[in-house]
Amino acid sequence: MRSLLFILSLIYFTSQPSLSWKKEEFRTCDQTPFCKRARSRAPGACSLIATDVSITDGDLIAKLIPKIPNNQSSDHQIKPLILSLTVYTDRIVRLRIDEDHSLNPPRKRFRVPDVVVSELDDNKIWLQKLSTETISGDATPSSIIHVSDNHEAVVRHAPFEVYIREKSGDRVVSINSNGLFDFEQLEKKNEGDNWEEKFRTHTDSRPYGSQSISFDVTFHDSSFVYGIPEHATSFALKPTKGPGVAESEPYRLFNLDVFEYEHDSPFGLYGSIPFMVSHGKSGKTSGFFWLNAAEMQIDVLSKGWDAENRIALGSSEDRIDTLWMSEAGIVDTFFFVGPEPKDVVKQYASVTGTSAMPQLFATGYHQCRWNYKDEEDVAQVDSKFDEHDIPYDVLWLDIEHTDGKRYFTWDSVLFPNPEEMQKKLAGKGRRMVTIVDPHIKRDDSYFLHKEATQMGYYVKDLSGKDFDGWCWPGSSSYIDMLSPEIREWWGGRFSYKNYVGSTPSLYIWNDMNEPSVFNGPEVTMPRDALHVGGVEHREVHNAYGYYFHMATSDGLVMRGEGKDRPFVLSRAIFPGTQRYGAIWTGDNTAEWEHLRVSIPMLLTLGLTGITFSGADIGGFFGNPEPELLVRWYQVGAYYPFFRGHAHHDTKRREPWLFGERNTELMRDAIHTRYTLLPYFYTLFREANLTGVPVVRPLWMEFPQDEATFSNDEAFMVGSGLLVQGVYTKGTTHASVYLPGKESWYDLRNGKTYVGGKTYKMDAPEESIPAFQRAGTIIPRKDRFRRSSSQMDNDPYTLVVALNSTQEADGELYIDDGKSFEFKRGSYIHRRFIFSNGVLTSTNLAPPQAGFSSPCLIDRIIILGHTSGPKSALVEPLNQKAEIEMGPLRMGGLVASSGTKVLTIRKPGVRVDQDWTVKVQ
Ligand code: NOJ
Repeated sequence: MRSLLFILSLIYFTSQPSLSWKKEEFRTCDQTPFCKRARSRAPGACSLIATDVSITDGDLIAKLIPKIPNNQSSDHQIKPLILSLTVYTDRIVRLRIDEDHSLNPPRKRFRVPDVVVSELDDNKIWLQKLSTETISGDATPSSIIHVSDNHEAVVRHAPFEVYIREKSGDRVVSINSNGLFDFEQLEKKNEGDNWEEKFRTHTDSRPYGSQSISFDVTFHDSSFVYGIPEHATSFALKPTKGPGVAESEPYRLFNLDVFEYEHDSPFGLYGSIPFMVSHGKSGKTSGFFWLNAAEMQIDVLSKGWDAENRIALGSSEDRIDTLWMSEAGIVDTFFFVGPEPKDVVKQYASVTGTSAMPQLFATGYHQCRWNYKDEEDVAQVDSKFDEHDIPYDVLWLDIEHTDGKRYFTWDSVLFPNPEEMQKKLAGKGRRMVTIVDPHIKRDDSYFLHKEATQMGYYVKDLSGKDFDGWCWPGSSSYIDMLSPEIREWWGGRFSYKNYVGSTPSLYIWNDMNEPSVFNGPEVTMPRDALHVGGVEHREVHNAYGYYFHMATSDGLVMRGEGKDRPFVLSRAIFPGTQRYGAIWTGDNTAEWEHLRVSIPMLLTLGLTGITFSGADIGGFFGNPEPELLVRWYQVGAYYPFFRGHAHHDTKRREPWLFGERNTELMRDAIHTRYTLLPYFYTLFREANLTGVPVVRPLWMEFPQDEATFSNDEAFMVGSGLLVQGVYTKGTTHASVYLPGKESWYDLRNGKTYVGGKTYKMDAPEESIPAFQRAGTIIPRKDRFRRSSSQMDNDPYTLVVALNSTQEADGELYIDDGKSFEFKRGSYIHRRFIFSNGVLTSTNLAPPQAGFSSPCLIDRIIILGHTSGPKSALVEPLNQKAEIEMGPLRMGGLVASSGTKVLTIRKPGVRVDQDWTVKVQ
């Protein structure tokens, strides 16, 4: 029976790309009792008030007790909850609510470890005092604490509410303003209590009963809310409940392996980031983050949702109410009050960390397929890239490269010489990635299984036995990644000694880490499975893949003795994932709508910390028509993570397989990415330092421009480039809104467009519209090479796009591209300023920064120069450089039409030195 089911599941998952999403496999809110209960509560239902407010150990501490004292005869006595409010520098407020441990609750609720960065504690502002104020209409005074020069936190006692307000009195973010707060306390199980829940053929024993938490969060001065990935849906989140909303599920956050997901749905995908961002007409941004790893459901409520039972807020206010519901855990929430969009992402990054600095190679193009069959196939694909003059950096091997899906092994017939294979690639400066999933084949002769079993390192089932579920290898067990000790052991599996056949140019792909369990409820692990310390899987579910990613990434750091930055791609995500590597949006489909939705998905991920992300180019399932594939490469060239990938039932689709013309188009798209690598790398460094994403929504750069608030077809790459994808078949035009007051220069021909308008732009098959913003300077490397490492010593091109005052500004970051030496100051960081006809390069790195580069600036392109210059004088060399007026060049391509631009050729200056070039 077991093997029959296994075979059926394999058939289901591997050979039916034409099947569509199996909705009934997954629970709806109505089939999820905690969600149904929370969603049906009426505004004002919360019966708690705050008392006993004090300042203790630098925090505000209070008790939450029932307004009407407990009825002594009732079975359900509400015990006091403990509330604590902590303030950190940079306008961050943390609100925690848990059961009172001194009252001996049946067990301690799970607090998610190893997500909040340890440095956060250093930023705590030790509160000294609180003040009080009676809010009009209240019988009792509220407690007020100082947050920043312009912000205060208010704990309103009765009715219970917490909010952050500006000193002007304007509210920013609040919790329980609609009285929906509810905290189901753990209870002792009495005889006869049956807490089980059933879904399809599965029974969840729920040994600890109901323990859900729900509350409303209001974003004031808000036009739209964004965030809470991962969903395939619009960037500005559509309301899910209230007037004008058709029947909708809440946005679900429950990491799941969803087969053939839909392109417009609130359904939860592979990852969960419970962080929402709001932006309003005043140009201000705020955010709210709930650190909780249990299943969560979030409603965005449309205006008037509370019409029948309005309690707290006037309806005229420009606000968005949301309802947050989680199955377990505690309230551990953060309020971020911006006020600028970049402030909010920085505030979130100071809690969960900024993104890791990738190796340079990882920002190039990756070629993947399920599967490259054998060593000969690998060699062929590799040489075809060269034959067709297409650069790429990494070749990927999916599950079939292993011996029977036993990770850390090689199929000895198909891949007899893995080291040699990797060395050949490395000889051309290329890397390889192999897949390592968290399910371990239960085979007594498999070394990894033997060791994990003996050490007791697997997740347990309810009876205490190693949990046994089905995945690619058949019967499998799952490493318990919650334990730091087990994570360390796992990390050790990546040493060259333990991972036989691996070499320094091999990096890792973590897939199926939601975790995916083919025969489990909703294709995942049962919620009552047990982790170390008796933690139930339901409590840690959404973070399981995060800990796996962390262990793998730390393992690669250990392997390289702390000298080689890791590269690990993960499918499951959680807050903090950005510290461990890249992610991709899973199994999309070769359809135009999937290309379109990739942009809001990546914008959302970037906004919520995870900037190193991409979607499978071409669509994982199905066969893209050449036009779709070409358009996908053109957009994908701007994804932070740029990888082509395909299901094994699809036709081969390497870029040279669709005729010379299409090869040329895909080659151009990939070349565009390679020319922009210095710019991307500089942006990755910015993300690494600040949390500001590489790919950004337009409103992050133009916060006052309302026309950008719901635009998710165009995106910014850094602050300098605006890209508009083409998402429709047979189109040769695109409508593009160019924000702001300054001009934009068409990257393809240098043509100028005034900002603040929508244009019908040409989008012939050669390219998608992309523009450089006036006032920016973008560094490029224009020579065509086979891989990023072959570009190391190539000269730079600077593209100076002048604004209306004939000025521009930009940066360039360079380091060794691979080690951690940059953390010790070994890097080049230049600032370029163009002003008064002079381009100046100044140093932004610490004076003792020990990194140099022999690279020269080969060409300076100046867009929008108004006076007819005659020469360029280079200092300190005191030399003249050649200048020419001609068509714009992008890489080797010369624009056939368009305006003439000024190019300064061979100024002869080094990239790592101070210099000026005066245009006369
Ligand atoms: C599912 C992943 O999403 C996909 O990218 C991969 O090819 C297959 N698993 C096989 O490993």
